[in-house]
Amino acid sequence: MHLPDYKEARTRDKRKYNRMNFLFDKDILNKYCGKKYFIKTYGCQMNEHDSENIGALLEKLGFISVDNYLDADLVLLNTCSIRENAHNKAFGMLGRLKHLKNEKKDLIIGICGCMAQEASVVSEILQDYKFVNFVLGTHNIYQLPNIIDKAIQENKQQIEVFSREGDLYENLPVIRSNSYKAYVNIIYGCDKFCTYCVVPYTRGRERSRKREDILAEIDKLILDGYKEVTLLGQNVNAYGKDLYDDYNLGNLLEDIAKKDIPRIRFMTSHPWDFTDEMINVIAKYSNIMPSIHLPVQSGSDRILRLMGRRYTRESYLKLFYKIKDTIPGVAISTDIIVGFPGETEEDFLDTLRLAEECQYDNAFTFIFSARDGTPASRIEDSVSIQEKEKRLYRLNDVVNHYFLENNKKLVGKTLKVLVEGISDKKNMYYGYSETNKLVNFDSDMDLQLGDIVEVSVTSAKTWSLDGKCKSSN
Ligand code: 5AD
Ligand code: SF4
Repeated sequence: MHLPDYKEARTRDKRKYNRMNFLFDKDILNKYCGKKYFIKTYGCQMNEHDSENIGALLEKLGFISVDNYLDADLVLLNTCSIRENAHNKAFGMLGRLKHLKNEKKDLIIGICGCMAQEASVVSEILQDYKFVNFVLGTHNIYQLPNIIDKAIQENKQQIEVFSREGDLYENLPVIRSNSYKAYVNIIYGCDKFCTYCVVPYTRGRERSRKREDILAEIDKLILDGYKEVTLLGQNVNAYGKDLYDDYNLGNLLEDIAKKDIPRIRFMTSHPWDFTDEMINVIAKYSNIMPSIHLPVQSGSDRILRLMGRRYTRESYLKLFYKIKDTIPGVAISTDIIVGFPGETEEDFLDTLRLAEECQYDNAFTFIFSARDGTPASRIEDSVSIQEKEKRLYRLNDVVNHYFLENNKKLVGKTLKVLVEGISDKKNMYYGYSETNKLVNFDSDMDLQLGDIVEVSVTSAKTWSLDGKCKSSN
């Protein structure tokens, strides 16, 4: 049994990591043929992509996927720790699974993802959730098949969570949930230690994948007909720093942009690591999408300092305008936290004014949630939850207003849209534009999913556009 420990998880050193080639243990290949699995994924794209690997590992064991957890022989929760509500949702699901297990004694229940890395969660599971068969950390997903096999064969709870990251495993199997858009990890972990954030503890040190491994994965995706890749990392802009002296996200983007892939996206970018060189590369290549997620978190210098964000309002705005001025038609989205401990009305007004100034194309807004073990969780907080909720509403009013205003400016324009499906409700096609706007549209021609088509925008809503297809390429 390996239990997580935050003290160990926060340590950083200059260790070199091996890049290992994953090999499936042949002794357990198809051992559980015909058994059914259900994965419930919480949280970010990183987790969604992990679930694509986890699903493939389970299928190698012989499991088949089902859409309803009630039909499953194995239910796996791929969890998120970022805010308390993600936590609560996973524990709520565990409650339901407890009832199910009373009726279905052989049900296997597992927990993986960020919550598995939290010592407090694991001790709660050990004490109060003895029906959970296994807990697996974020650093050792590659061990999943063997842990499941052990949990079943020994009929004993398995807890395998490494506090510190180990080797990087390449060539994990994957079953992607989308046939046209693919996630590609480029860097794991985060070294920024923003004071409110649990990710540097749950996901470990920044570790970049080798460029040749990333480029080979993208070559394969192109051969398989993928039209869009999203490069993933907690902070993609730190790509390469731990591995190369002279190869960074700008170089990687350029190498990918020279390939025959129509759309490249990347997320998330910490403003601190955003260089002019990267901005110029994004501007230079038409297949790097002009859509940048640039979390600001707060508009108050005082709060930014307390958050440990390493930039000021002024330096953020300088970067913001550099991106706007250099990349034609760029859409910028952001993340904002309200109600950081001790945030005053004046601090909050700074955030509101920044949101007014930046007129973001999209924004994810959150109320601060104290996370165990983070420095911000120890700051005394005088702001009531009612006040924080009011601030969130006030902020949402401002950001929503600009989503609509920005969308209205697109009416009458022609956008390139990757056709993703037909919406059930409206019987219209839908897809995303280059700037990542959801577009619902009619077409006189039959369209193939995965096509990139030109759509003339006819009307704007806050979170989507309506349009009519002009042509297919
Ligand atoms: N409370 C509220 N929001 C948080 N985020 C990260 N940690 C917290 C927290 N403790 C938000 C940040 C980040 C996004 C992924 O989640 O805005 O950019
Ligand atoms: Fe968390 Fe900050 Fe790292 Fe983003 S950059 S994952 S907010 S610590």
